[in-house]
Amino acid sequence: MYDACIIGGCGHVGLPLAIALASKGKKVCVQDINASAIERTLRGEMRFYEEGAEPLLKQALADGTLSATTSPTCISESEAVVLIIGTPVDEHLNPRFGLIEELIEQYSDYFYDGQALILRSTLYPGLSAKVRQWFERKGKHLHVAFCPERILEGKAMTELEKLPQIISSFSEEGLAAARKVFSALTNDILVVQPIEAELAKLFTNTWRYIKFAAANQFYMIANDYGLDFYNIYYAVTHNYDRAKDLPRPGFAAGPCLFKDAMQLGAFNNGEFYLGHAAMLVNEGLPNYIVKKLKEKYDLENMTVGVLGMAFKANSDDIRESLSYKLKKILNVEAWQVLCADPLVDDKRLLPLEEVIERSDVIIIATPHNEYKNLKLDGKIVADIWNVLGNGGIV
Ligand SMILES: NC(=O)c1ccc[n+]([C@@H]2O[C@H](COP(=O)([O-])OP(=O)(O)OC[C@H]3O[C@@H](n4cnc5c(N)ncnc54)[C@H](O)[C@@H]3O)[C@@H](O)[C@H]2O)c1
Repeated sequence: MYDACIIGGCGHVGLPLAIALASKGKKVCVQDINASAIERTLRGEMRFYEEGAEPLLKQALADGTLSATTSPTCISESEAVVLIIGTPVDEHLNPRFGLIEELIEQYSDYFYDGQALILRSTLYPGLSAKVRQWFERKGKHLHVAFCPERILEGKAMTELEKLPQIISSFSEEGLAAARKVFSALTNDILVVQPIEAELAKLFTNTWRYIKFAAANQFYMIANDYGLDFYNIYYAVTHNYDRAKDLPRPGFAAGPCLFKDAMQLGAFNNGEFYLGHAAMLVNEGLPNYIVKKLKEKYDLENMTVGVLGMAFKANSDDIRESLSYKLKKILNVEAWQVLCADPLVDDKRLLPLEEVIERSDVIIIATPHNEYKNLKLDGKIVADIWNVLGNGGIV
């Protein structure tokens, strides 16, 4: 019998959790429909960057505390089932409940009465209750819990043990099961109602998204007046605690922040002025950069190099990356667009040196550490992140 089976266990959130639990001696089975990801996991390979995860994965496989399979039969062999599949929004920016509903349709026969189902995907508020209802209608009486993940991708292996864990359930048994799983990682466990936990997760991500939007809007205001935002940023934040959480400007992207702000908007009947304004600001930053470059230079006859295609610094994850949106806009507005990223596996990308050599304009789109010492003499540089330390004016 497994302590926990993790459905979606090869994903960016599922696999670090599986490894962390297995490293603490829990017997864990990773279940995923992605067969090649399962194979790589069984070989002890991480297929995405997660600091410190690979040695722990190898150790857990050697210890026999972690196994992996595409077969859902491990659900029946587990005390608790943790569900972590993607929960994207659709083309109307509404949540796609269908993905979880289909999964229940596929897998419900493998669950048994009295089993704990711990939902860990970020959920539209009220979805945990729906999941419980869908199982009840299938005659399965599960202890459904919702325990959101709040790690920073790339830092999961430290944050899973460092962050407090929010747990919630519709039953005492569900709470006890969630406590049993997560107490392997932390003693700092907070209990709230399921809908409170669902909102806590959406508030957490949306708050971050709004903060990035504030920084991006401030950046655009300063830049429109020909001022270097970073001089003002330093003046605002230096030794001034009340402003120390003002982020630096830059692309606010990735698979979570945008869609979670939009889920919150959908939950509030589409009335979420602050969230939608944040979306317009953050999604508008690539357009803004191109507009500014067009005002100053003969962009349509120039080659533009985009450095950094991952959605954030030092990551290989391109999901919902605004660098690709920037590239699309430039494909229309510039003569040629060349892209590089040392961490990203994308055949369309070119080596960094080639992109620099062939480009008239360089845009640093993702602030990877290895761009810090770049020599870009003679090039027009747009560095909104101030990676090079020469200011952020575009
Ligand atoms: N990425 C993050 O930093 C982060 C942080 C906190 C929360 N979240 C939330 O966690 C959830 C998962 O995100 P992610 O980034 O890990 O997504 P992901 O796409 O990396 O992983 C999802 C995994 O689920 C698998 N899967 C899909 N359908 C399946 C099925 N029917 N049966 C078995 N496996 C299936 C996929 O093959 C994939 O491996 C989302 O709700 C997301 O919002 C993500």
